[in-house]
Amino acid sequence: MQLKIFLNFLFIHSLVLSSSSEEEDTGSSENESEEHHPKGAAHGHWGYEDQDEWPAAFLYCSGKSQSPINIDTKAAIYDPRLPSIALEGYDLTDGSSLMLLNNGHTLQLSLPSTMHIVSGFDHVYLAAQLHFHWGTVEVPGSEHTVDNIHFPAEIHIVHYNSKYANLSEAVNKPDGLAVLGGYIGVGLHENANYEKILSALTDISIEESNTQIPGFNMRHLLPKNLKRFYRYNGSLTTPPCFQTVNWTIFNDTITVSRKQLAALEDTLKVGFSQHLNKNFRAPQSLHGRQVLASFTDASVPEEGLSKVLKRIPNITLFISQRRKKRYR
Ligand SMILES: *[C@@H]1O[C@H](CO)[C@@H](O)[C@H](O)[C@H]1NC(C)=O
Ligand SMILES: *[C@@H]1O[C@H](CO)[C@@H](O)[C@H](O)[C@H]1NC(C)=O
Ligand SMILES: *[C@@H]1O[C@H](CO)[C@@H](O)[C@H](O)[C@H]1NC(C)=O
Ligand SMILES: *[C@@H]1O[C@H](CO)[C@@H](O)[C@H](O)[C@H]1NC(C)=O
Ligand SMILES: [Zn+2]
Repeated sequence: MQLKIFLNFLFIHSLVLSSSSEEEDTGSSENESEEHHPKGAAHGHWGYEDQDEWPAAFLYCSGKSQSPINIDTKAAIYDPRLPSIALEGYDLTDGSSLMLLNNGHTLQLSLPSTMHIVSGFDHVYLAAQLHFHWGTVEVPGSEHTVDNIHFPAEIHIVHYNSKYANLSEAVNKPDGLAVLGGYIGVGLHENANYEKILSALTDISIEESNTQIPGFNMRHLLPKNLKRFYRYNGSLTTPPCFQTVNWTIFNDTITVSRKQLAALEDTLKVGFSQHLNKNFRAPQSLHGRQVLASFTDASVPEEGLSKVLKRIPNITLFISQRRKKRYR
């Protein structure tokens, strides 16, 4: 039944469903949505304001392996066998140009399949696109949370398993996708690499508009340290919510300036006047899933700390014993 869905433009975040399966699923909401969004019919009829209603219209959105999730750092299980991630072909400083698109749900950059994850998974995963999730100045808009705290924004670099022909083929396969996620916070300095994307925002403020930007080293959009990450089995964070994503969320974070974050929050539009922001889904239940960590806590573990504390009275004792000896 879900296979009847005709996948057209296949972005992880804006899947175009055929109007026939759409009518079956959402029925009466058709006319309503068309009024608000004249282009709605071609875009799958979903929005972030009505995310509680996704499960009713999209079967998989009520599954038990949904994304995003909250990452409880204390509950994450250290797994020393998690292979580290090796990237290849991420440097696109070769005169290529990339399409940057405002698709009405996110800001998305198309990526060539020469860019890939060579190791870290059971197969090579090829890049397809990257995109962002963000909020407003009042509402931080990362999708994943860390100990229930949202970051201001989040980047997702979407890769598909090289055993499939393309993203559309891979998107509904259990081992289809690997997404690398990074938290974006605010720092003191302008981020020159993010600026290569953000400086083009004013050219694509209108929904469905796109522009070309020169390629650069995409590695620099991710955090410096890729060795520390969380891993779990999850889903697309937008309808149709296929549970086909092997998620990697880095522990190290990225920073952009306050002004750069404001550009992301305030420039893009949906429809005629509405701002494109708060494009994040709420954290979903784990339903017993485990979150693995590739690292152990770098700070002194509690056990070690109590050992240090216990040693202090011993030292005092030792000194006082020596003194006793001397004074005797
Ligand atoms: C995700 O990748 C890991 C290897 O890092 C692998 O062990 C695991 O089975 C993968 N999960 C899925 C659902 O393919
Ligand atoms: C993806 O690959 C399949 C199978 O080769 C092909 O039929 C389809 O047209 C391709 N889709 C896109 C968007 O390239
Ligand atoms: C993810 O799913 C795969 C395949 O079912 C399984 O082997 C793996 O252990 C799961 N990973 C986690 C972190 O639960
Ligand atoms: C990174 O890991 C440390 C140690 O567990 C944790 O305290 C911190 O909240 C984590 N930060 C992120 C962004 O995952
Ligand atoms: Zn995303």
